[in-house]
Amino acid sequence: MHNVGLTYQTDKQMVTALENINLQIEEGSFVCVLGPSGCGKTTLLRIIAGFHQATNGEVLLDNEPISPKPDEHRGVVFQQQMLYPWLNIEKNVEFGLKMRNVPPIERRRIVDHYLEMVGLLQFKKSKSYELSGGMKQRASIARVLANDPRIVLMDEPFGALDAMTKEQMQDNIRNIWRETNKTIFFITHDVEEALLLGTHIIVLSSRPGRIIKELHSELPYDIEEGRSRMYRSEKDFVIKREEIINLISS
Ligand SMILES: Nc1ncnc2c1ncn2[C@@H]1O[C@H](COP(=O)(O)OP(=O)(O)OP(=O)(O)O)[C@@H](O)[C@H]1O
Ligand SMILES: [Mg+2]
Repeated sequence: MHNVGLTYQTDKQMVTALENINLQIEEGSFVCVLGPSGCGKTTLLRIIAGFHQATNGEVLLDNEPISPKPDEHRGVVFQQQMLYPWLNIEKNVEFGLKMRNVPPIERRRIVDHYLEMVGLLQFKKSKSYELSGGMKQRASIARVLANDPRIVLMDEPFGALDAMTKEQMQDNIRNIWRETNKTIFFITHDVEEALLLGTHIIVLSSRPGRIIKELHSELPYDIEEGRSRMYRSEKDFVIKREEIINLISS
């Protein structure tokens, strides 16, 4: 993103949500975006997804301007899942593949592969209302991955989950990222979550959102499953956490 800005124009007022965003996302990185409420995080995601067009600057994917319409190359996982309630989990995950006329045998293989990855293979015949919040979120992740997007965009995907489930989901998405080497763009309110997942952590200022800090971390390559709690009390982790909290609250 080169000098990207976005100003919303409503009938009452103009709101500049983002200003002067310069950001390079490396293939295979896990980018976590933090910032105060209303600073433009979702707006940034919506620009990358193609739901909104930047009013300034340019956004490139593989050196080409991104298409201003959503497509399967940029898959979005929202805070509240957007599963089709009338389809079972298997059919939800299969949906995009069917739309693109992937042959049935291939579809079934892909669907099973990603349902297995998120631990939902035995629930593939369930309807979404028969699943817990965490399970629905995992189904949404499988649905996005099934389309093999260039980048996975996640907007506070674990924000509505309890602490225990959240920790398991973090382990799950970290494993998926390590296994698939996908590029992930992940918005969160939770500083610890960003530090436990992000290889690149970006902190935005309050509105209009500008990048006020970029941090690199190798931690997500090393964390062992089920052991993330251990890292929260490490000195380096605590220092980074305090630094980011101070930035966001100042
Ligand atoms: N469709 C819209 N029309 C007009 N203004 C909007 C629109 N969407 C967002 N805004 C404004 O743009 C600013 C940034 O909103 P955005 O949703 O990107 O923030 P956010 O960082 O995701 O916040 P949160 O952490 O609360 O989710 C806010 O001031 C919001 O009021
Ligand atoms: Mg938001």
